[in-house]
Order: sequence, then C-alpha cells, then structure tokens
Amino acid sequence: MNLFLTGSTGFLGGKLIKNLLQNKANEVYILVRNVEKAESLRDSFLLEEQKRIHIFQGDITRPKAGLSEDDIEWLTGKIDAVYHLAALVKFDLDLRDELFAANYDGTKHTLELATRLAVKTFYYVSTAYTVGKLTHGVEELYPTDGEFHNPYEESKVKSEHLVFSYRDKMNVSIFRPAIIVGDSKTGEADSQFTLYGFMRALGVFKRKTDRRKGEERTYRLVAAKNGTSNLVPVDYVADILSLAPEKAEASKIYHITNPNPPENIELLQMLKEALAFKNLSVVENTGEYVLDEEEVRLNSLIEVFRVYLAGALTFEDRNTQNLIKGTSVSHLEMSDETIDMIIRAGCQVEGKVV
Ligand SMILES: NC(=O)c1ccc[n+]([C@@H]2O[C@H](COP(=O)([O-])OP(=O)(O)OC[C@H]3O[C@@H](n4cnc5c(N)ncnc54)[C@H](OP(=O)(O)O)[C@@H]3O)[C@@H](O)[C@H]2O)c1
Repeated sequence: MNLFLTGSTGFLGGKLIKNLLQNKANEVYILVRNVEKAESLRDSFLLEEQKRIHIFQGDITRPKAGLSEDDIEWLTGKIDAVYHLAALVKFDLDLRDELFAANYDGTKHTLELATRLAVKTFYYVSTAYTVGKLTHGVEELYPTDGEFHNPYEESKVKSEHLVFSYRDKMNVSIFRPAIIVGDSKTGEADSQFTLYGFMRALGVFKRKTDRRKGEERTYRLVAAKNGTSNLVPVDYVADILSLAPEKAEASKIYHITNPNPPENIELLQMLKEALAFKNLSVVENTGEYVLDEEEVRLNSLIEVFRVYLAGALTFEDRNTQNLIKGTSVSHLEMSDETIDMIIRAGCQVEGKVV
C-alpha cells in the first residue's frame, strides 16, 4: 500500500513507520517540516527500507499542509490511506492559539489535502483524553461543548468532529491512545512530553534540592493516590495502528487504552525510586494542610500534568478488542515490572538520572 503520514518524526510516528515498513509491499510518504530530521530518521533504516520512505516538505498549519502544487500533482491518485499523527502535544493553558493552529487547523488542512489527493481512507490519531472532565470514556464522539482540562483536549475533540464530517468523502476512523510511554520490551522512548515531561520536571526539582546538603525534610506532591494513570506502551499503539488498513472499519473510534492501569501511588512510588527522590511524599488534595513555598513550586512545576493524576478514569475498548481479534496483537496486559522498566529507562538520559 502507499501510505501517507504526518507526524512521522515524532515519538509514535517513528515506531509506526518501522512497523509499516516491515510489510515489504508498503511504501510510506511522509510530510515533514524539518527535512534534515526526516533524512536522519530515514538513515536509521535498512537500505531496502530507506528506498520505500519518500520525504515531502510541508507544514500542517498551512493550507494544503504546505505541500507544493508539483508534489500534490505527483501524489494525486497514488495514496491509499493517510495516517494523521502530527500535533502539538502540550497541556499548557496559555498555548491555546498554537494548539488550535497545529491540532485543529492542521487536521483541517490535512483533510483538505487528502481530498485533493483523492485518498479513500483517513486515520486520525486523537487522544483518549478527549473524554475531558467525564470519568468514563466511550468509543463515540463527545460533544464539542463539554468540559475540558486544557485546550489540547478541546482541540482534539473539535478535530474529531471535523474528521467525521468528511465521512461522505472518504472512510475515516479515529484512534485514541491514552498516555503513550516507552517500548514494552526495551523501555525506549523518544519523547519529552506527557509522562516524560513530568519525570523531567520532578528530576529538575530533585537535583536542585540535592544541592542543599544536610537538609532533612520532605516535599509533598498532591495527587489522588488511588486514581489511575492510563499508560500504554508505544509498540502496542503502533501495532494497533498498523492493523488499520486490514481491519479498521469506517466511522469507528478505537480506544488504545490500558484496561488495568496502575494506581497513581504505585506509579509515583516507582518514579520516586527511579529518580532516587527519597524525600518526596504524596498527599491527597484534602485542603487540610498548607504547602510551603518550595512545595508550591514543586506542584506548580507539574501543574499541567496534575489533571492526569487527579482521578480514576475508565475507558471502553470493545472496538479495539474486535479489531485485534484473530491477529498477532494481544489485548494489553502491562505488568508492574514492565512499567517499572519503562520508568527507569525514561529516567536515564545518557547514563544519568534526568
Ligand atoms: N504522546 C502521548 O502520550 C500521546 C497520547 C495520546 C495521543 N497522542 C497523539 O499521538 C500523536 C503523536 O504524538 P507524539 O507523542 O508522537 O508527538 P510528538 O513526539 O510531539 O510528535 C509530533 C509530530 O508532529 C509533527 N508536527 C508538529 N507540528 C507540525 C506541523 N506544524 N507541521 C508538520 N508536522 C508537525 C512533529 O514534527 P517535528 O519533528 O518537526 O517536531 C512530530 O513529527 C499526536 O496526534 C498526539 O496528539 C499522543
């Protein structure tokens, strides 16, 4: 198949491309804004695979995703399916304009481009956190006027509606991963966001406190201890996405979520050990204590991630279970050992704790 991808130079995209190229009949056409980065990604593949990676410069925030008319002409009628992964994955409230430009306008431009290229199938990678402030995720569209924690979630919900509005022009399916973490076998993760941004913020704070020798105190981190963090390994997400051309149904939404996610307290304990952050303690948000200045700083450093430590969400994934039925992909079972290995790998950068 001829598959067109956005976001291939990202964390998930790199893994997905690797999977797709394992099928020797696949050619991948990647839209990238940074050609040098894409060339070094291509260089990491076997020679035979490199020949099947075709790089196109563009930018999804621009009309036609920034592709030249020559490129559009050359690609028209050639592409079987588009995987749209490119996005800005940040949870900051003050990035609303940038988030809507990349995530909403970017999706609009990619859909318009797919229409111009006469593509028949469009796979949109959204997020399980389009669930917003609801506590149970369903494999259906959510209302656009729901309550959201941040403009990232809102931009993704609105983009999903946009994608479904193209149902009369092409087959569209939506995939919603939860929090993507490293490879389930190696722990490898090429990411600085979500859990990795959280780890880095904790690591930076810890290093600063380490410099104050002889200080005996604990720092309280506020989280719902029995809430859950829905982590999914990047290889599981890529495996499911790779099945899409063969198995995905049009107009369906697929949750790529963890049916047995770890409790926050377990996850934070693993992080604490991996970062050797002995004087970190976790407290519930009871309002019965006052955080001191340092603790306020610690908690504000991780402010954007706190919503994902606040509750215990559940996600249906019946559509995904049906999609993987009869394939080599098994329904996710992530052991504590695997999570611990992924966290430890994420906390090590060039042999040093982050
Ligand atoms: N990571 C998670 O935990 C998570 C969870 C749920 C859903 N998702 C979704 O999964 C998808 C991939 O996420 P990820 O973690 O792989 O993100 P990532 O590592 O940040 O990669 C984002 C990709 O999008 C590209 N991109 C961003 N803006 C662009 C633009 N204006 N034009 C062209 N390309 C642009 C980036 O290109 P550059 O290399 O040039 O920066 C990069 O290839 C996203 O749609 C995200 O919303 C991620």
